Amino acid sequence: MSLLKNNSAPGTALSTAQSTPDVLVIGAGAAGLMCAAVAAQRGRKVLVIDHANRVGKKILMSGGGRCNFTNLDVQPHHFLSANPHFCKSALARYTPADFIALVQAHGIAFHEKEAGQLFCDNSSKDIVQMLLAECAKADVLIRTQCSVTKLRPLSGSGFVVSTTLGEIRCAHVVVATGGLSIPTMGASGWGYQLAAEFGHRLRPRRAGLVPLTVSGDQAQPWTALSGLSLPIRARAGKQSFQGNMLLTHRGLSGPAILQISSYWEPGQALHLELLPDTPVEPWLLTHIQKQPKQQLSTCLGQTLPRRFAQTLCQTLLPDRPLNQLQGKALKQAVAVLEDWPIRPSGTEGYRTAEVTLGGIDTRDVCSKTFVSRKVPGLHFIGEVLDVTGHLGGYNFQWAWASAQACAQAL
Ligand code: FDA
Repeated sequence: MSLLKNNSAPGTALSTAQSTPDVLVIGAGAAGLMCAAVAAQRGRKVLVIDHANRVGKKILMSGGGRCNFTNLDVQPHHFLSANPHFCKSALARYTPADFIALVQAHGIAFHEKEAGQLFCDNSSKDIVQMLLAECAKADVLIRTQCSVTKLRPLSGSGFVVSTTLGEIRCAHVVVATGGLSIPTMGASGWGYQLAAEFGHRLRPRRAGLVPLTVSGDQAQPWTALSGLSLPIRARAGKQSFQGNMLLTHRGLSGPAILQISSYWEPGQALHLELLPDTPVEPWLLTHIQKQPKQQLSTCLGQTLPRRFAQTLCQTLLPDRPLNQLQGKALKQAVAVLEDWPIRPSGTEGYRTAEVTLGGIDTRDVCSKTFVSRKVPGLHFIGEVLDVTGHLGGYNFQWAWASAQACAQAL
């Protein structure tokens, strides 16, 4: 059932009701739809517009098609921002339990995959349908394929917004246009441009939760192992994440790499611990004692993927019988297994990134109402702000929570 793809045929001019809402929400993604539904349920007349041909495209593609819609453990330290305090109020006021209650009220089946990450059993479509049902309950108007050409604050209060489908007059504008990742899904920098136009400061933006590329000699022996995955700990500076790493034909991916990519700075070395949670030297000494004639590659291949262990021993480690692994050679083996430094050449960029780091500087936005400190009546929510979550449902929780807080103030 498609609940509400578009309230009017695509391309038709805005109706009178659509031209005069109390609240105009720009961006029908996670934050925009949630904000529209809640504001409308509080009695506001709400119009949502989106330049894409469908609402909630990123929700649909999220979590491998099953939408990791929240996490059971959401704390401020799961978010990156120049102001780590900004997210606290909204996250405390709308918690994972609140969103889970909504999901349950709509009869959506879900499961915990790992570490508190909640996914739909069936499909991400369930979440979009739920948001549309919440919007429909309170007569939210939605128009897709509609772009803003000009936004003008009126001298007293309110706005005149020119769009490709006609003019809109409203008291409040909520910008929920998200980040720059996956441009083919409707991502645009429009929200940042608008914010800058009205005097908001912007924090530098870059791709986050993104695969890293490795090139040249560093990459050469490993490309043949593309598709292989192993548990590691990855560290950049003081931050580290444990999880799987996937070797790709262009570099590194997998949960641990995506997580650390949000902290990795271009030019910086990435440090990989190949036997996380194992005290490497005592572990090797035990093996040397038990199986002195065994080759190092065979020994490592019992814990690491065999082909990975072999390549490691052809490139970085001396492949010799364990009883010959002494002194300098032993130290070298321990050092590589505990801390293999790799210098990524870059990231795969917005083409494949899950999020955009940076964005609208939170100093210019109220953390309780999400209203601009520069233009009364103008609000910013979701990923367009300089708040970015870790992998694991945190970015959607930020979208829901910031949308809720904003809607309560409309
Ligand atoms: P969102 O991107 O959802 O919506 C923005 C909307 O604004 C879009 O509909 C867009 O078309 C519209 N828009 C943009 N510019 C416009 C303009 N100029 N005019 C009109 N409309 C405009 N997070 C998570 O917590 N769990 C997960 O499982 C995943 N998985 C995932 C997979 C992939 C592949 C990606 C790319 C991302 C994720 N994420 C995720 C991140 C998550 O999707 C993201 O953080 C939220 O969708 C952000 O919600 P927003 O509403 O802020 O933006």
